[in-house]
Amino acid sequence: VFGHVVRAPEDAILGVTVAYNKDPSPVKLNLGVGAYRTEEGKPLVLTVLQFALICSSRVKEYLPIVGLADFNKLSAKLIFGADSPAIRENRVTTVQCLSGTGSLRVGAEFLAKHYHQRTIYIPQPTWGNHVKIFTLAGLSVKTYSYYDPATRGLNFQGLLEDLGSAPSGAIVLLHACAHNPTGVDPTLQQWEQIRQLMRSKGLLPFFDSAYQGFASGSLDADAQSVRMFVADGGECLAAQSYAKNMGLYGERVGALSIVCKTADVAGRVESQLKLVIRPMYSNPPIHGASIVATILKDRNMFNEWTIELKAMADRIISMRQQLFDALCARGTPGDWSHIVKQIGMFTFTGLNSQQVTFMTKEYHIYLTSDGRISMAGLSSKTVPHLADAIHAAVTR
Ligand code: LMR
Repeated sequence: VFGHVVRAPEDAILGVTVAYNKDPSPVKLNLGVGAYRTEEGKPLVLTVLQFALICSSRVKEYLPIVGLADFNKLSAKLIFGADSPAIRENRVTTVQCLSGTGSLRVGAEFLAKHYHQRTIYIPQPTWGNHVKIFTLAGLSVKTYSYYDPATRGLNFQGLLEDLGSAPSGAIVLLHACAHNPTGVDPTLQQWEQIRQLMRSKGLLPFFDSAYQGFASGSLDADAQSVRMFVADGGECLAAQSYAKNMGLYGERVGALSIVCKTADVAGRVESQLKLVIRPMYSNPPIHGASIVATILKDRNMFNEWTIELKAMADRIISMRQQLFDALCARGTPGDWSHIVKQIGMFTFTGLNSQQVTFMTKEYHIYLTSDGRISMAGLSSKTVPHLADAIHAAVTR
């Protein structure tokens, strides 16, 4: 009965790892998936996680449908700020979800059922999974201009024009910081203009916050965009992931918050979120969330975490400089200053898919076909190999 099933293509990002794993070359390098690696090219388990593991709960009972209460409260505080008026006024409902993807999907399912406008605008380009998440939840996906290939920066005029002509009430997906895949973020001043435009048109912001602390190294600075929208008293949604900033990739820990106008509405929204979650996966896993809650509520562990987070962000920034310097030293044609200007885990190199294929075939360097490089996978030892490959790709 399944004979007719056709083979689906590999995922554009996770499929890169599948191909990398099959390559026997000793010099192979995986710069595809956004996963942090040490200078030695190894995955990093933060030291603070090891402490938190000892202290976190050993309870293995079911969590409530909305997840661990402490985790939810602390996650809202982390993204909206400890002094957020929305939290003080109990206007926020937060539910623990399966990392960023799960949070986006639960939010999307809720919107498809309870929000009057079914259209969501996502930036062009964006993380490949966004289109699938929102489409499968029943929303209609449209794009707004974001990246300008000529400047390798933000197409701010295009963004304002596209959001300006979006139908009133449309949902807008915004990357809170460290835009994936481009590494290009609006300035605070531009965020303010985006906020004014969106509020004047009644557009609903849905933030994807997968890199808080990873862009600038500061948890507060990386949440500024979200906090601006919350400060004006309007509604918004925010999906948080702890995959990158706590290195909890495989634990699938995240949260969805919905900021409402009143506490009463927030309570009703939460009751409906439970109806989305229960038939989907019943209730979320306890292990990762109790580790996160342990860290967020203990001042010493929290401080230790911010130090380790900053060290990861700084190492990535130093990789940007080293790669830029290596290309300059080789006299590689073109302007590569975007490597140091872009922020977060990724550099959107501007390399095309043929150049990427060449680099994979000849140099065993694995990256997504859109030319995105995970800077977090690079080290001082591998920079020269990558620079050689880029140089050969653009000069051949
Ligand atoms: C990425 O963009 O590499 C990460 O967000 C991992 C993923 O799930 O795609």
